[in-house]
Order: sequence, then structure tokens, then C-alpha cells
Amino acid sequence: MRSLVRRVRGGSKAAAYRLTKGVLHRFGYDFEIFPRSSRDAHASKNADESFYRKWRSPSPVWAPWRGEPDFRDAYDGVEPYTVVSGDRCQVLYRLGNQALSVDGDFAECGVYRGGTALLLSRVLEGHGKTLHLFDSFEGLPAPDPTRDPDLEEGVFKATSAREVGALLGGFSGPLRIHQGWIPSTFDGLNDSRFAFVHIDVDLYRSTLDCLEYFYPRLSAGAVVVFDDYGFPAARGEKNAVDEFFSDRPEAPLALPTGQAIVTKLP
Ligand SMILES: C[S@@+](CC[C@H](N)C(=O)[O-])C[C@H]1O[C@@H](n2cnc3c(N)ncnc32)[C@H](O)[C@@H]1O
Repeated sequence: MRSLVRRVRGGSKAAAYRLTKGVLHRFGYDFEIFPRSSRDAHASKNADESFYRKWRSPSPVWAPWRGEPDFRDAYDGVEPYTVVSGDRCQVLYRLGNQALSVDGDFAECGVYRGGTALLLSRVLEGHGKTLHLFDSFEGLPAPDPTRDPDLEEGVFKATSAREVGALLGGFSGPLRIHQGWIPSTFDGLNDSRFAFVHIDVDLYRSTLDCLEYFYPRLSAGAVVVFDDYGFPAARGEKNAVDEFFSDRPEAPLALPTGQAIVTKLP
């Protein structure tokens, strides 16, 4: 310890920072200091900015998305058709499997080229539940400039319902592709019940519309996964989720993957 103090005193602030970080790292801790200018810039943009941090574990963690056999088989061929990273897909896969024992169907809002829908179809194979897919297949609708300032209309339009149908052609269970704008594509589905919903629509209004439709139709124990809850560019999605659950008993759980999950209480 004495030599550590001597080295800190004798070196520059940067050297002391590196040294302290190295010592703490050995004990499993990590920290970061942002320069004042960057802190001020962040703070002026959004009061919550200091909570947006890179996540990394100082020690190795169980990482089944890197090839654990069960997940690897379900994930095979998914990656080229999704913008959702492997660690997030692994969350969908695990929670989807858990939801197989819950009453109701599966749904995905925000399908794009169909990668995560393909993964969910693999989870559902042989279980008889319907997979509902909702997307305009014309990309994002016009964002609200105050709520979704970092997103643009028309992003994710390089796809079609036909291509997604073909990608999921091997799925033997019931598949319903609802092409068009949310929430009008929920019309006529009043009596449905859901066990699992993946909400990946990025925008404030789209996310809120999904929650207003699905929440009352979730069975007890059903799981909802929000793909972009933690990403600064999709803060509209987070705001919609936080507002919606502010007066409900379920507590959205933010994951280090950027997703959030909610489990419906009885
Ligand atoms: C990030 S992408 C989905 C990514 C996809 N889950 C994957 O595996 O790559 C978001 C999608 O949400 C859709 N979307 C957003 N708001 C919508 C709305 N109000 N109605 C229909 N589709 C919407 C867009 O068309 C886009 O395809």
C-alpha cells in the first residue's frame, strides 16, 4: 500500500487514475470519470444522462449467447435478419421459453426483416400457440420531434410482409402477420390473450399504443420485453414504459443489454 501511495503522489493525475482503477479492477470493481465538459454537455441534454453508462463486467460472466448449444440452435440463421444483438436475442429466447407455460399467444410489434420473429417461432415450434407479428413494413412512422428527437421517419423500411412470411416458412404453428399501422392493426383482436410480447417499435407513441392494447390482455405471469428501453436514441420508448407503469403494480426491470422486462402480476 505504501508503494501505491508513493506512486500516486509521484505521478500525474492520469497515472493515479489508471493505478486506482487497476487495483479496484482486481477486486472486481470498476469506475469511470467523465471530463467536466462532457458531463455538462450531457446534463444539459437530458437530466437522466448520467445514468446512461457503458456496461461491462470486470470479471467474465456466463454468456450463453456466445454458443451455448440450446440457444445456438434456435439462433441459427437469425443474425442476418435482425438488428437485435445476440445477448438481447438470448433474453428473448429464455423468457419466451418460460412463457410457454403461460396461457395465451405470442406477439411481436416491430418485425422489420423478421430476425427476432424467426427466433420466437423456434421457441413456439410444436406448442400450438399463435405467433402474431405487427409491423407497417414501411419503416417507422413520423416521430414526435420532442419525444423521439433522434429517430427518423421511414427507417427500417427495407423489408416486406412477404419476405418475412418466407423467412418463417418453416414454422409449423399458427402465424398471423398484421401488416399496417399500430394501433389500427389491433382492431378486431379484442378477445386475444397473450403470454409473451416483444415490443420493438422504438418510438414513444408506438410503444404506448402497444401497451394500451396488450396490458389488459396479458395473462398472469406473461412477460413483455422492451427492446430499446435503455438506448439513448430511443428514450421515447423508455418514457412511454415509465409513464405507463407509474401507476401500475408491475416494475419494469432494466437489463444491461438495453432491454427492459415486465412480468404481469396476477
Ligand atoms: C427496430 S425495428 C424492429 C427490429 C426487429 N425486431 C428485428 O429483429 O430486427 C422497428 C420496427 O417497428 C416498426 N414500427 C414502429 N412503429 C410502428 C407503428 N406505429 N406501426 C407499425 N410498425 C411500426 C417499424 O416499421 C420497424 O420495422
